[in-house]
Amino acid sequence: MQIKGLVDREKGTVSRRLFSDRGIYEQELENVFARCWLFLAHESQIPNPGDFVAAYIGEDPVLVVRDSRGNVNAFLNTCRHRGMRVCRADQGNAAAFTCTYHGWTYGNDGKLVGVPGYKEYYYEELDMEQWGLVPVAQVESFHGLIFGTFDPRLRRSANIWAIWPGTWTSSSTA
Ligand code: FES
Repeated sequence: MQIKGLVDREKGTVSRRLFSDRGIYEQELENVFARCWLFLAHESQIPNPGDFVAAYIGEDPVLVVRDSRGNVNAFLNTCRHRGMRVCRADQGNAAAFTCTYHGWTYGNDGKLVGVPGYKEYYYEELDMEQWGLVPVAQVESFHGLIFGTFDPRLRRSANIWAIWPGTWTSSSTA
């Protein structure tokens, strides 16, 4: 989709298509939201082990969680069994998240820790290690601001301050 010409810098006008065109929106999802560091939460929102807050990366719901060991993680808020949203609260504190559909339970570190019928239906052969919540590929805290990206190749830190050019310099990063 051609988007050049939709912004006229001389006249200071912006085409309304930028706000309503489905094709432009899908380009943004693919080229921006899927490939950039995005702000997810502030550390002050999850100060204690087990604290979590819901966020989005593009249209994908994610959970930002401080696990019981104090590490900050982010996961797709989607059950690995049949795709139900694992947590429906916007924020709170939890040692584990139990899917309301069939009861799969995930620790606050994203690991699958409980499956109803593990013996009877799965004959104890389900590899629990393989079925944890899908992690956001990279998560980084920057002056308390927690960013995440689904792009595993994106350089850490370097792209974060590019979000607000001129706001910070590399020497101001922790
Ligand atoms: S969809 Fe979550 S346990 Fe089945």
